Amino acid sequence: MAADRTADRNIAGQESATAALPLATGEAFRDAIARLPSGVSIVATAGQAGKAGFTATAVASVSDDPPTVLVCLNSKSPQNRLMQENAQFSINLLPKDAVTLANIFAGRTGLHLEDRFRHGDWTVLSTGSPVLKDAVMALDCQLLSSQNVGSHIVYFGTVVATQTKPRDPDGAKEVLIYHDRHYGEA
Ligand SMILES: Cc1cc2nc3c(=O)[nH]c(=O)nc-3n(C[C@H](O)[C@H](O)[C@H](O)COP(=O)(O)O)c2cc1C
Repeated sequence: MAADRTADRNIAGQESATAALPLATGEAFRDAIARLPSGVSIVATAGQAGKAGFTATAVASVSDDPPTVLVCLNSKSPQNRLMQENAQFSINLLPKDAVTLANIFAGRTGLHLEDRFRHGDWTVLSTGSPVLKDAVMALDCQLLSSQNVGSHIVYFGTVVATQTKPRDPDGAKEVLIYHDRHYGEA
């Protein structure tokens, strides 16, 4: 019965709830999800464990009250330790001209951890996590909880401060997006 299904509210029950249906192949899933246009952000953290940041499209709003967001980071990334130990992070939505910065924080130039922050103009808001001055918007978050889901770890954050750039008065495109495996603007 539909009322007995718990997959949408119980991650621990994920395997048993989906066991009856074959999974989409990884390739089919990746081809399908590539069609979803997403804003490109840099997720950054700083604290006792050090400073790090990565480019991410897996960012979403979860709750309005209290203001809560999520980001997903591959569980193989060494940055998971810093996210968990610092227990705070920022989400910085990139402006359309920030492709180079997106590639740096995606590890495509060989820079790691703190070295990535030599590029871009960074400040802090409330938690001390790096906030990009040029971000279209930035959310400063305290880590609420994290959850292992397949290949990724989902980090839930409570938003404690925001920074929002005023809209372009002419309605020009401002945001860096990723769509069909290419950068674009929205
Ligand atoms: C446009 C774009 C979006 C990305 N989105 C994510 C994401 O949401 N989650 C993730 O774990 N990795 C994502 N990545 C890959 C990470 O940025 C990359 O693996 C990471 O920065 C590598 O850093 P590390 O070596 O410090 O772990 C994305 C890369 C690009 C280019």
